[in-house]
Amino acid sequence: METDTDTISSRISPTCPPETQRVLTAAWSHDLTAVKKLLDTPGRASVQDPTTGETPLHAAIRACGPAPEAEGGEEEEEGLADLEAAKKVVYELLLWGGIWNDVDDRNETPGCVARRLGRGELYNLCVEAGVRAEMLFGLMGGYEELESVDGEDEEEDEEGEGGVEVVDMDVENPEMVVVGEDGEEAPELVGGEVNGKGGSVETVPAEGEEGLEAEQEEEEEDVEEPRFKRPKEDTEADVNFEAYLRSKLTYTDGKLVDDDGNGVMMAWETDIMRRSVNALLPGKQPGKRILNIGFGMGIIDTMFAETQPAVHHVIEAHPGVWEHISSPGSKFGSAWEESAPKPGAFKIHKGKWQEVCQQLVLQGQTYDAIYFDTFGEDYSQLRMFFTELIPSLLDGQGRFGFFNGLGADRAICYDVYTKVAELHLTDAGLDVDWDVIDVDMSHLAEAGKGEWEGVKRRYWTLDKYRLPTCTFLG
Ligand SMILES: C[S@@+](CC[C@H](N)C(=O)[O-])C[C@H]1O[C@@H](n2cnc3c(N)ncnc32)[C@H](O)[C@@H]1O
Repeated sequence: METDTDTISSRISPTCPPETQRVLTAAWSHDLTAVKKLLDTPGRASVQDPTTGETPLHAAIRACGPAPEAEGGEEEEEGLADLEAAKKVVYELLLWGGIWNDVDDRNETPGCVARRLGRGELYNLCVEAGVRAEMLFGLMGGYEELESVDGEDEEEDEEGEGGVEVVDMDVENPEMVVVGEDGEEAPELVGGEVNGKGGSVETVPAEGEEGLEAEQEEEEEDVEEPRFKRPKEDTEADVNFEAYLRSKLTYTDGKLVDDDGNGVMMAWETDIMRRSVNALLPGKQPGKRILNIGFGMGIIDTMFAETQPAVHHVIEAHPGVWEHISSPGSKFGSAWEESAPKPGAFKIHKGKWQEVCQQLVLQGQTYDAIYFDTFGEDYSQLRMFFTELIPSLLDGQGRFGFFNGLGADRAICYDVYTKVAELHLTDAGLDVDWDVIDVDMSHLAEAGKGEWEGVKRRYWTLDKYRLPTCTFLG
């Protein structure tokens, strides 16, 4: 849907520096020759209007307007020609460093604009660019700051562009970050933090624009707290995770929150847990060997237990969860452990999976079903788990699943992460089957309301969940 503020006059501000204006206008006009010429100066593909945050990618996509198909008509020939021109410009911009997940003052990435306008082909170009970037970051092995596009010209660029941000890339889950003169970060692919639960996109404040900066602060407040986090640096990840382990957890009706108000686990995910159990244990035959990483509210473990497994191991790192597990009324206390068909077959392993799994591997344990759903960890941890531990822990005919919340605060990030995870899973020798299921958003639509009442961040915003079931290739 086009908004009345999707016009060139509202997106390229009168105070936009002339150099930036030229690039934005050429991109808006789908003038490939002019764009190519302007891109001969490094950094131009990612300039932003300091007021609106418009980048050349936003401009090239927005200028297409809503897809006629979306309004029920056939695309006119002229429209198709313009779309072809737009695709070429978008491609060129991406080739020369256009940032796929940069956000404007409305917290929209170029892909978000394409999606809103029903421009599927342009949206796909943005998704593909995101996948390439994320895979590249993955190869680089984590967050890594790149040189600015043109280090030597940095000062000149800043002056020339009235203080346009210096483009850096930060490798996390894989994300890109634009850093302003003041070192403030720009956007990141969600998914960023993995709450297992996805990532998030941060806005890039246009330099010198208090309004945008203020909005960015607001946005940062709103940044989703995915179950899987992509921290900026490993050290920061460690600090965050250690802080989480020290935090006081509160179990209330329907949710588990940490002392910062982050939702660690919520009851609305029960349907996802049920379907995950169905996918991992088709037919739910008794006597299976199950490993679950992350107890949380014990929702999935209760379901696993109902299938009467031969082995049911749970790994949980948080002392507050241990306390909850051993409290009166818990189904998973010592009586449960003692009820195992064999000693040690039902067990809560207290510790981090990173350590406990090593022991399980040394013991030669293997499982028919493994589920992974942690909190406060980076996507790199999930990847490490399925790359390094699944080959040893999963039975040859077994199934592996994980909570797929990567990038779930934004459709394009979710699409990018799905593809990235799939590529990494394949790389790890796993075939993945995605079951797309509906998420009832009626009580999840608004931050702070419905299910989100009392929860700091809305880490899930999508009406479809892609449920992964992984098996060994071949
Ligand atoms: C989202 S909850 C799991 C919810 C669970 N699937 C359920 O159905 O209730 C995540 C859990 O993983 C635990 N966790 C986080 N990091 C961990 C780690 N490295 N090792 C083991 N447990 C971890 C958290 O303490 C939390 O209890």
